Amino acid sequence: MKAVLDILDLSTDELEELIAKAEDIIAHPAKYAHAADGKKLATLFFEPSTRTRMSFEAAMYELGGHVITTAGVDSSSASKGESVADTAKTVSNYVDIIAQRHPKEGSALVAAMHATVPVINAGDGGHCHPTQTLADLLTIKREKGRFDHLNVGLCGDLKFGRTVHSLINALARYPGNRFFLISPPELKVPSYVKKAALKDRAIPYLQTEDMLEFMPELDILYMTRIQRERFADPGEYERLKDSYILTPAKLETAKKDLAILHPLPRVNEISVAVDDDPRACYFKQVLYGKYMRMALILKLLKEQETDKGVARKVDFSGPEYVRDSLRCKNGRCISNVEQELPQVFRRGADGVCRCVYCEAKADPEP
Ligand code: NCD
Repeated sequence: MKAVLDILDLSTDELEELIAKAEDIIAHPAKYAHAADGKKLATLFFEPSTRTRMSFEAAMYELGGHVITTAGVDSSSASKGESVADTAKTVSNYVDIIAQRHPKEGSALVAAMHATVPVINAGDGGHCHPTQTLADLLTIKREKGRFDHLNVGLCGDLKFGRTVHSLINALARYPGNRFFLISPPELKVPSYVKKAALKDRAIPYLQTEDMLEFMPELDILYMTRIQRERFADPGEYERLKDSYILTPAKLETAKKDLAILHPLPRVNEISVAVDDDPRACYFKQVLYGKYMRMALILKLLKEQETDKGVARKVDFSGPEYVRDSLRCKNGRCISNVEQELPQVFRRGADGVCRCVYCEAKADPEP
């Protein structure tokens, strides 16, 4: 049994197994109508959501299971100051599986360290969002028929857009893909994502501010929202918020079989006039997200039957871990909010120490 905190927690074989399962669910929904009879899912959402929470809940109902939820910080004991760890321990007594969204980076890892049922990360701050990537992958599979040899443009807030980080990590595992990272300089893909997913594996990528520069080459254009809630400076958000707006005119040079994706919600970055373009896939992507979450819930429930009560083993005792001598400087990291959490850094092959919760570099380096 394992928690799914990051898309890298799933091997490429597991990703493909989940996609095959989702396609079987689409083809034969009746076969799965009682697959999770008697099981319960908790959706712990400490941050706003429409699609992710509702699609987890719809997924569980369509499998015959039940759902209990705390939608928003105000309706749970988090508003009284309860820690992520205590909430995870408590909720494990009520349900068979947990999907958690939380504004702090690394909060899903903390939940998985303390839960005794599988934990799915439904978004931890600007860090990861693996189940959105499952939705994105099924969309790409059905639109393009493959995950390799694709020119992938990612446009918008590539710094705080957690779906972008997870999607790069997923697609970087397939051969022949090229990445076009389109963002203002302030919102570039964080260096920890670029380094581990792209640079260290010599995967070609280009960074540009101009969304039209590589438009004719793209097979996929993944648009994202500028993430207002993650800016420390509201003035900077105001300055950057309308950096990119996709319109029919901007698609004139694009390939006829381009697939336009967006995790949604869109604010202003795709004009509604694009919705009628057959290349617009973002509402299909919403539906595919439900089927992928059904497949993932089934997989984790099955693994739970054979490995009951054991959360993903999180063992920080190896020689690569540096404990207590460094502090994480990322204000968005859960370890800076919940002060009792141990400060733990992992030293990579390059000697750089990164926080185990949020992957920020230790600063200063030891
Ligand atoms: C995304 C998220 O929450 O990170 N939305 C989603 O899950 N469908 C993207 C966003 O909020 O901009």
